[in-house]
Amino acid sequence: MAIFTFDQSYALGRVRAVDTRRVSIQVDKDEELRRARVGQLVALRLPGAIEEWLIGMIDSVMKSPVMEETIEQAVPMEAEGAELAMPRESVLNTVRVTLVGRVALDAGQKPCFSRSIFQVPEIDCGCNVLRDAQLQAFMNLLSVESKTEHSLEMGHYTMDEKAVAYLDGNRLFQRHASLLGSTGSGKSWLVAAILEQAAKLPSSNLIVFDLHGEYSRLTYASHLRVPGPEELGTAANELLYLPYWLLNAEESQSMFIDRSEFTAHNQVMAFQDAVLSQKKAFLEAEGKTEMLSALTLDSPIPFPFENVISELRRLNDEMVPGARGGEKQGVFYGQFSRLLIRLQSKRDDKRYGFLFQIPTTEQTYDAMAKMICRLMDFSESRIRVIDFSEVPADILPVMVGLVARVVYQVQFWTEVNVRKPLALVCDEAHVYLPNKEGQNPVEQRAIENFEKIAKEGRKYGVAMVVVSQRPSDVSTTILSQCNNLLALRLTNGDDQGTVKRLMPESLAGLMDALPILDTGEVLVVGDCVLLPSRIRVNPPKEKPISSTIAFWDEWRKAAEKPDFAKAVEHMRRQSRK
Ligand SMILES: Nc1ncnc2c1ncn2[C@@H]1O[C@H](COP(=O)(O)OP(=O)(O)OP(=O)(O)O)[C@@H](O)[C@H]1O
Ligand SMILES: [Mg+2]
Repeated sequence: MAIFTFDQSYALGRVRAVDTRRVSIQVDKDEELRRARVGQLVALRLPGAIEEWLIGMIDSVMKSPVMEETIEQAVPMEAEGAELAMPRESVLNTVRVTLVGRVALDAGQKPCFSRSIFQVPEIDCGCNVLRDAQLQAFMNLLSVESKTEHSLEMGHYTMDEKAVAYLDGNRLFQRHASLLGSTGSGKSWLVAAILEQAAKLPSSNLIVFDLHGEYSRLTYASHLRVPGPEELGTAANELLYLPYWLLNAEESQSMFIDRSEFTAHNQVMAFQDAVLSQKKAFLEAEGKTEMLSALTLDSPIPFPFENVISELRRLNDEMVPGARGGEKQGVFYGQFSRLLIRLQSKRDDKRYGFLFQIPTTEQTYDAMAKMICRLMDFSESRIRVIDFSEVPADILPVMVGLVARVVYQVQFWTEVNVRKPLALVCDEAHVYLPNKEGQNPVEQRAIENFEKIAKEGRKYGVAMVVVSQRPSDVSTTILSQCNNLLALRLTNGDDQGTVKRLMPESLAGLMDALPILDTGEVLVVGDCVLLPSRIRVNPPKEKPISSTIAFWDEWRKAAEKPDFAKAVEHMRRQSRK
């Protein structure tokens, strides 16, 4: 049985030029040119007795006027009897196609698709558009082939609504993915759709960084929340404290030291000395002397913050014996006044309570192991959502970066044979992974932590799924490490530009569809799909809380006034509970 059968109504010109994967088709008839659309698939038959087709995707359709050199023109004008020649104008219709794969019969005489191309089409080879029954046959082939044990069902191809679209679940996570689209384009729903599929596997392992509590109602996930000012002091199971002693040297510097102060260097030194000696004292008191040899500033060892403050205060106020029996100011006298104010105000600020005002149970040597279990134990819960909505914006990047770093390091130190691959879903990534010159130190830390995961995570089974509504505001280093791109509707020109730059040039034409994609429609490019595909995503069964508000409908309803006094109280307390 033939793989494809085309008659004249499918014809789209002949091959005029071939340059590895890019093919130019010359189309002589206007009616043929009308069959071509950007993004459409075409088939070109390879020569040979055995049926074999190359599949391509149209990236541009051009109709350009050309001046034909006429023979008369070659005759010198002065020559006697020469007519005044006018160049004749004609049009050259060109369709540019990028080859994406090959369909051939396998050993069992069944058609199969592969992405590898060994042979390019011959000049003058006929080109056919794939539509109707032929397109359905092909999409069906794709669908059957991409449905494997490790595939994840996404929805349907826009090109053929009957064919189910699958992504390769291994490849999607192996080398990171980015999920980009304007606000309201359907990113959170797409994330929920992926989570829902993953939740069906017996030991999937994902952590979702949720900045707005959007995923807080998903029943198949477990929920952790960084506590707000109201919840401080309680040790409820869903509360995730992020004790200050988890901060490494650079993270704590970014929080407490102001680099612009001229005593900054001494502040860093004295702060680090005080922290290190407190960590040492803690280990000695716990009888963990075997740990002392490996102790560094970065070691996650609890210590009393108060003692660091009092040591700095001592140095700040220190008087030493001077000449002639009198007293003089110590070396650091007055140098730490500003640092002390900063430390104390951070310590006392209720909004930072999850860092400093932690229950005593979180101050023990074993506290970190317990915390990691809640973050990483997939046998308890396969999907853990961490709600950061109570974390103040000024330190949010460090806090998200801290969790990512700690999780990554524990994964790194887990024995290889029991290590379970883990994916970090970073929603609203532009907030904590910004792309700008002169990032502030707090953002710098987050970016560095995530960059490390982006670069090395693959080897230790840590994947990132970067989700953002402002791709142009997300760190380019991070985005360019994502090998799979799931692009939803993007209306802003800068964002479209960023996404186009992340693509191979040949797919630029396909990206022109970005602003006109429907809600919940996604362009998938990368090795998780056999072909760059436009897919209509199935809505998840359990929806995230991000529903678009129907203004006009809401305004049409009669309604009671909300309790504004209560809202003001919530604002004061920084909590809606
Ligand atoms: N696959 C889908 N099918 C049908 N409707 C959808 C789909 N995905 C999203 N929608 C609709 O679009 C709305 C917005 O989707 P969603 O909350 O996922 O957007 P978003 O891209 O996450 O926006 P934001 O960047 O503001 O968080 C949803 O409330 C829903 O009504
Ligand atoms: Mg969202």
